[in-house]
Amino acid sequence: MVAFVLNVSPKISRFNLFRKRSLPHTVLPSLTHLRPQHRIQQPTRSHVFSSLGSPAARFSISSLNSSKTQNGTSGTGEDLVVLGIETSCDDTAAAVVRGNGEILSQVVSSQADLLARYGGVAPKMAEEAHSQVIDQVVQQALEKANLAEMDLSAVAVTIGPGLSLCLRVGVQKARKIAGKFNLPIVGVHHMEAHALVARLMEEELRFPFLALLISGGHNLLILAHDVGQYVQLGTTIDDAIGEAYDKTARWLGLDMRRSGGPALEELAQEGDAHTVKFKVPMKQHKDCNFSYAGLKTQVRLAIESRNVNNGIPISSASCTDRSTRADIAASFQRVAVLHLEERCDRAIEWALNLEPSVKFLVVSGGVASNKYVRTRLDEVVKKKGLQLVCPPPNLCTDNGVMVAWTGIEHFRLGRFDPPPPPDEPEDSVFDLRPRWPLGEEYSEGRSEARSLRRARMHPSLTSIIQASMQQ
Ligand code: KG4
Ligand code: ZN
Repeated sequence: MVAFVLNVSPKISRFNLFRKRSLPHTVLPSLTHLRPQHRIQQPTRSHVFSSLGSPAARFSISSLNSSKTQNGTSGTGEDLVVLGIETSCDDTAAAVVRGNGEILSQVVSSQADLLARYGGVAPKMAEEAHSQVIDQVVQQALEKANLAEMDLSAVAVTIGPGLSLCLRVGVQKARKIAGKFNLPIVGVHHMEAHALVARLMEEELRFPFLALLISGGHNLLILAHDVGQYVQLGTTIDDAIGEAYDKTARWLGLDMRRSGGPALEELAQEGDAHTVKFKVPMKQHKDCNFSYAGLKTQVRLAIESRNVNNGIPISSASCTDRSTRADIAASFQRVAVLHLEERCDRAIEWALNLEPSVKFLVVSGGVASNKYVRTRLDEVVKKKGLQLVCPPPNLCTDNGVMVAWTGIEHFRLGRFDPPPPPDEPEDSVFDLRPRWPLGEEYSEGRSEARSLRRARMHPSLTSIIQASMQQ
């Protein structure tokens, strides 16, 4: 069964979200100018995401405006209304966002039950789950926004990175709507969306800024120069931190229905973080890359040596057993986050060398909803004289708002595809980018550790944009 787990009430404005923040240390206390003042740039280029589907003709701004006039909406600035669709992994999400940052609706359907049953995302099953709910999720997002498809200015959809089978469900839905209602379409990079959603929350967040993106499949440190322009300072050489949280949670017999991270965070609060002496990864490598595979092995061995039986769920564990598990959880979390702290500390120095005007560290992605992570990284950032920007938890985990907003950011720069044909066959071959780096690698940041897997990688978002700008 697929359950709807999150429905944020409609008409949440950027202003309200800022005001209602639940974690005071995560948002900039000194910033008080909350009224949206958008740097609306007239579209100057068109058609960067040129191969979302069938060959696309250049889509000029004049043709966009005339097509939108027919639909009764204007195509630029604050009047933009964009539907965002996200299906890259195990959440089916859709949202409608205005160009001024107002969130009109947000719907997320989670596959947590499937995750709990199979211990991870099984692509074929995840695809089926997305297919079952995608129409309903999009419909609800439109209804909550009190809008119909014809009121939209564009559709934004995640095209990568992620699981091809899953990405396809979202792209197919987006293209169906865009084709039927003559709407431009923006192909979105999932990790860029995690980073840029911070700009929706915090209008003072100007480029350049540093971002740590931590999720189930990615650990990225990037220097963001502009929309679509990123330098990758570090990445993981094996697993991401979210994967380590999920595996540890599973081995400790935690309830995986909310995904492993939140369950582990909760249990860790009961434990002593200094009981198990895990080694901090990659101490000898003076770069900004990450590794969590070794820590996972250390955790597994610690669990085995303490005879924790994960066949017994934590809810049925004896007091002693529960406290052993809590100590392991807390010790794991301390070291997993220490690794983030050390890398961020170095990345801030690198970023300031490259761009002395950097003032912010954005921390986003599912793991950024963890309070311990936020508190510890806030300390690092403060010591370096920077400020932390962390979106609220429901915008850190996968959501449609970040996709819609990133669509808006690119759309304003003229980066979009023309409406697909209304009668596009269901079995069309779409341009999906399952392995898609975000930015160009910083040469000094190359890992001294074993080489990163590069097979079947798409050229990075930044290199595609730079190539199109030179045309
Ligand atoms: O960004 P996200 O929703 O999906 C991906 O793009 O992967 O991140 C999901 C990851 C999962 O590994 C989940 O366990 C982790 O984020 N996560 C957390 C917390 N909430 C979600 N990890 C630690 N603490 C949390 N509170
Ligand atoms: Zn994500």
